[in-house]
Parts: sequence; structure tokens; C-alpha cells
Amino acid sequence: MIIIFKVAVLISGKGSNLQSIIDRLHIKNNNIEIKCVISNNKDVLGLKRAKDSDICTYTVNDCNYKKSKEYEKEIINIIDGQSIDLIVLAGYMRLLSPYFIDYYYPKIINIHPSLLPSFPGLNAQQQALDYGVKVSGCTVHFVDKGVDSGPIIKQKAVVVDSNDTVNSLSKRILKDEHKILPEVIKLLSLNKVKLKNRTVIIEER
Ligand code: GAR
Repeated sequence: MIIIFKVAVLISGKGSNLQSIIDRLHIKNNNIEIKCVISNNKDVLGLKRAKDSDICTYTVNDCNYKKSKEYEKEIINIIDGQSIDLIVLAGYMRLLSPYFIDYYYPKIINIHPSLLPSFPGLNAQQQALDYGVKVSGCTVHFVDKGVDSGPIIKQKAVVVDSNDTVNSLSKRILKDEHKILPEVIKLLSLNKVKLKNRTVIIEER
């Protein structure tokens, strides 16, 4: 019997990371399936990308809920209705509450455009340029209750040029995001990622 590793992807915008997961995992014979894409914003390009690949989409607009718990319960209803193995935050720009994190930990991962623990939160590439670092990059990590503070699974470094703009640096980092996020999902689907306290051990054999 083939066991399918079922993934839910949460997005807020253009969804280029979602597209990389679709291209590298979902439509290949990988035993990995994106069961649903959930966006907190309607009419974003990421939703169109999912629909173009016949993936179920949901818009759960945070503005329509008085309390964040009600908003998150709606997302939980969608996810639990589909026996999801992994929740991927791919450009999802809303913080999740401790209630949501506790409910799923350690089944949520996030992609962030800096070498954490440097530059968590919003505008990571701008933060890196403002600080003047010579190397930045991207990080895939488990999501815990802090902001971009969970155990680090994989990182890739990118050299920062003296003439880089937010745009040029973001583009170079994004190229690597598109590689490491699918790589991590694949490793998780193969049960090759072990978490010991906050140290992640990858069995890459
Ligand atoms: C990506 O660079 C992702 O790392 C970042 O938003 C972008 C989304 O692009 N996420 C964060 O900053 C989360 N803190 P995409 O919608 O094209 O995948």
C-alpha cells in the first residue's frame, strides 16, 4: 500500500515557494501530495498557482473573525478534515497563536529569508542590509511559540554584495529558498529528520 505524505501550505501572497513545492514534489511521483493551500488574503497569485495545479484552495480572511482563536479554529477544521502530516508556512505573514502551535507542534515548518537567529520577523532582507552583514541567506525551521525561533532544520548562505538592494538580495535568497524548502519536506516525508530538544539531526543517507 502506498502511503501518501499529506501537506497543507499556508500562504499570504505570490506563492513562489508554493510553486517550487508543486514543481519539485507534488506533481512528481514522490508520495507527497499538497492536499490544500490556505491563504489569509484573497485573490493572491499563490491561490491561482494552486488552482492551476488542481489543488484545493481556501481563503480564511483574518479580518472576518473577531477573535484570532476563531480564525485559527477555521484553519484547524480544514487541516484536520484532511489528515495532514505537515503544515508548511510558505510566505505566510501572520503570527500563529500559542494555542495553534501547541496543537500541532512539531508538525509546522516555516521558510524565512535570513540566517536565523539573525533578523527574525518582517523585512529580514532589509534588516540584513541595514546591519551591513556580508553573508545572509535562508532558513527552514520548525515553528515554535516565538517569532522565527524554532529549531533550525536547514540553512543556505548567500553572499551580500556592497551594491545589493532589497530587491536583488531577496531574489538571490529566494532562489535558494526554492531549493531548501522542498528538500526539507522530502526529508520529513521520509522520516529522516529527528528532533532532540532543539537540535535537529538529519539522516541523509
Ligand atoms: C519569502 O521570501 C519567504 O521567505 C518570506 O516571504 C517570501 C514569500 O515569497 N517569508 C517571510 O518573511 C516570513 N517571515 P513567496 O510568496 O513568493 O513564496
